[in-house]
Amino acid sequence: MNNKYELIYEGKAKKVFSHDDADKVIIEFKDDATAFNALKKAKFEGKGKLNCLISSKIFEILEENNIPTHFLEIKNENTMIAKKINVIPLEIVLRNIAYGSLCKQTTIETGTVLTKPLIDFYLKNDELNDPLITKDRIELMKILSSRELDFLIKLTLKINEIMKSFFKNIQLQLVDFKLEFGYDSKKNILLGDEISPDNCRLWDLSQKNDTIISLDKDRFRNDLGGLIEAYSEIYKRINNSSNLMK
Ligand code: TMP
Repeated sequence: MNNKYELIYEGKAKKVFSHDDADKVIIEFKDDATAFNALKKAKFEGKGKLNCLISSKIFEILEENNIPTHFLEIKNENTMIAKKINVIPLEIVLRNIAYGSLCKQTTIETGTVLTKPLIDFYLKNDELNDPLITKDRIELMKILSSRELDFLIKLTLKINEIMKSFFKNIQLQLVDFKLEFGYDSKKNILLGDEISPDNCRLWDLSQKNDTIISLDKDRFRNDLGGLIEAYSEIYKRINNSSNLMK
């Protein structure tokens, strides 16, 4: 990145730089992958570019469906320009199918199709290991009011409906995903972060048998191999579908 831009924040998978316009930022997607709060680390050449391209397509689709997001435009392959937001320190996870931590922490069987989407909140705090928290604790910590939380829950459910049907059309099952939100300078709540196979579980529906084929970061979390091939396949399907719509 051109050094006229100041590095404002570096996360596990992205760097955020200043922009000439104080209301905007430049987000660079890194090739680094981490899991289990960075206990496991690796680098996958090309991951940053794929996640930047996939995220921008999904943000565009969400915007077309009246979901306010921070995305403005792609700058180059692994960087995007976004509205500057003050990030709410919560990770909102929506699950359509029981998998991952839900099955490790409860007696719900892996692969159970949930009768209604389950929304879990995690406190964004690496030192505390991003703990699962309750609505009451969120209000107690004054992170959000009850009204704001209800608004975010409704928005998350709406995002799920849009993404679930979009992915289904390209033969992908949206199992679960994680969202982050923030406030812009006018105090509007916008969807931030990224929407990519790093923070969504996506299963291939194009196979006729019942075996689960993960096309997401579980390939790294569970040592399945083929992460770049999986992310490339997601990007290819998204791109083909948007070319068809043109
Ligand atoms: P989990 O089953 O590990 O709780 O993950 C649920 C979803 O949230 C899955 O799509 C991966 C995503 N996720 C993140 O994006 N970041 C995280 O730090 C964690 C724990 C999960």
